[in-house]
Amino acid sequence: MPSSYHLLLVPPSTAHRFAVDLLTHNGVASTDAAIIASALVEADLRGHDTHGIQRLPSYIARIRHGVLDPHASPTLKQITPVVALVDGHNGFGFLAAHMGMDAAIRMAQGEMGIGLVAVKHSNHFGMSAWVVQQALDAGMASLVFTNSSPALPPYGGREKLLGVSPIAAGAPGGPGRRPYIIDMAPSVAARGKVYKALRRGEQIPKGWALDKHGRETQDPQAALEGVMLAMGGPKGSALAIMMDVFSGVLTGSAFAGNVAGPYDPSRPGDVGHFLLAIRPDLFLSRQEFAARMQYLYERVTGAERAEGVDRIYFPGEVELVTRERRMREGIPVVQAELDALNEEAKRVGVDLLTAELQREKARL
Ligand SMILES: NC(=O)c1ccc[n+]([C@@H]2O[C@H](COP(=O)([O-])OP(=O)(O)OC[C@H]3O[C@@H](n4cnc5c(N)ncnc54)[C@H](O)[C@@H]3O)[C@@H](O)[C@H]2O)c1
Repeated sequence: MPSSYHLLLVPPSTAHRFAVDLLTHNGVASTDAAIIASALVEADLRGHDTHGIQRLPSYIARIRHGVLDPHASPTLKQITPVVALVDGHNGFGFLAAHMGMDAAIRMAQGEMGIGLVAVKHSNHFGMSAWVVQQALDAGMASLVFTNSSPALPPYGGREKLLGVSPIAAGAPGGPGRRPYIIDMAPSVAARGKVYKALRRGEQIPKGWALDKHGRETQDPQAALEGVMLAMGGPKGSALAIMMDVFSGVLTGSAFAGNVAGPYDPSRPGDVGHFLLAIRPDLFLSRQEFAARMQYLYERVTGAERAEGVDRIYFPGEVELVTRERRMREGIPVVQAELDALNEEAKRVGVDLLTAELQREKARL
């Protein structure tokens, strides 16, 4: 018989308020804390709770160890009329990415129609889709790249060298249709999913990772000591290297295995990002673009389904369906996750995070 555990549900507004309180009591300015909290809660809402408020203790540990500056404000240097460079000054990656995409959007709104921003000396910014959404909210298509700490071997290797660095992009949807949002790590699964399994006492599926001896493992701890596996062999490895070329080599940030991980409190992250905003009516009218996106959406989701498949989703749609449900029901957490967050709350004397509803879930 599988054992079970209680899943607690936290209302999104409560999670946001708690995140802001925790951040401001750790030295982050309230306007900055609001940006960071929104990005984290957005990840929780979209089902990527691996990159949501559960990450707060790891970020705060970095502040305590003096390797992430809670007071740092990113600065922007204009390079050409459509290109800028943001220096994150080792502050929160969320702030540098937010400033970068904001600048990219502003440039793309001008007559040039595109805005490219490189970001250096940044940190982990969680779920890339929130940066894509920032562009979508302004009616822009976008590319959002970041590099990250070593977790994957290059194809044929067994050494952790490449990041599990997500590749993200978006385009506004047709009338009444959801936008296109791709946001995927080049590994079979994001490493955050291994951390989540560890927190919840679960095993990971076969095919995600090797242990330190190069053997397949379902034990999350052994997986973290070993390597994640790239999706599609050399193709996933090449995509991870692409994230390093554009986010690390090109920007002046760390690359080639030199980015420090969000759980490594020994040194600054030095993460790089590459952000491009594109006005979708550069080659066609906005109406034509929207009609073509609508046609694409309908062709994709209306395609003949394989046996046993109830519905075909457009990329990003699964997350938006989850978001609608979690806005109503709340964000699921387990007691151990709540406890870890409340440990941080007790340290700085902020109100504890409380969960309002409960249901039982079978352990996998
Ligand atoms: N900042 C970092 O360093 C970092 C590193 C790794 C991962 N992450 C984040 O982790 C999150 C999870 O990454 P992942 O690779 O596990 O994502 P995933 O495998 O859950 O999803 C990848 C993509 O596939 C699409 N998708 C998923 N199920 C689908 C379905 N049934 N039909 C159609 N499309 C579907 C999603 O919309 C998404 O665009 C991402 O938000 C990513 O940004 C961040």
